[in-house]
Amino acid sequence: MNIAVFVSGRGSNLRAIIENENLKDLVKVVLVISDKIDCGAFKIAEEFKIETAVVGKNGISFSELIIILDNKKTGLIVLAGFLKLIPAEFVKHYEERIINIHPALLPSYGGKGMYGHHVHEAVFQSGDKFSGPTVHFVNSEYDRGAIIAQKYVDISEVKSADEIASLVLKAEHILLPEVVGLFAQDRIKIENGKVKIVGLEERQS
Ligand code: GRF
Repeated sequence: MNIAVFVSGRGSNLRAIIENENLKDLVKVVLVISDKIDCGAFKIAEEFKIETAVVGKNGISFSELIIILDNKKTGLIVLAGFLKLIPAEFVKHYEERIINIHPALLPSYGGKGMYGHHVHEAVFQSGDKFSGPTVHFVNSEYDRGAIIAQKYVDISEVKSADEIASLVLKAEHILLPEVVGLFAQDRIKIENGKVKIVGLEERQS
C-alpha cells in the first residue's frame, strides 16, 4: 500500500515507519508532506530518496495535494507530528484513511494546544502513573477521531516531563508501525464508531 506521512518536526516516527522490517513488503512511503519548508523529517525523506511537498501558506494547497496523493494511489495518510489542523474537505476525501499519533492516552490530554511538551508537562503535573501513545482516526476536530490502539507506559517513577516524553516516544516507534501494518493488511474496521482489529479476538481467546 502506498502511504503518505505528514510531519512538522524531527521525524522520528517517520523513520520508525521507513525502517520497520515488518512493513518492508506491506507499505511504501510515497510522499512526505510538511507545513514547514525545512524540518528534520525532510532530511530523513532525502536520506531515503522519498519525494517531499510543502503544504499551506509556504507551499501548495490541500486541494492540490489531494490531486497529487490520488495520482500516487495513496491508501493511507499518517500524521506523525503534523501540527496544523487538516481541513474538513481533505478529511472527507480520505475518510477513514487518515490516522494520527498522539503522545498521551486519549481522550485525556488532547485537543487544541495539547501537543509536544505541553502534553507531557500536563501528564507530569497530574501525577498519573501511566501514559502512552494513542493512534486514532482523524476527523475535523483535534484528537477526537475513533481510537485505534494505545500502548501503556509506566511513569510511576519518573522525575520529569522530559523523562515521560522519551519513554512515550519509544512506545510510539513500536505502536505506529504496528497500526500502519494492520491497516495495510485491511485488519482495522470501524463498527458503530468503534474500531475493531480483525484477528485480535482470535489471538486473545
Ligand atoms: C510525537 O511525539 C507524536 O506523538 C506527536 O508529535 C511528535 C512527533 O515526533 N504527534 P517526531 O517528529 O515523529 O519525532
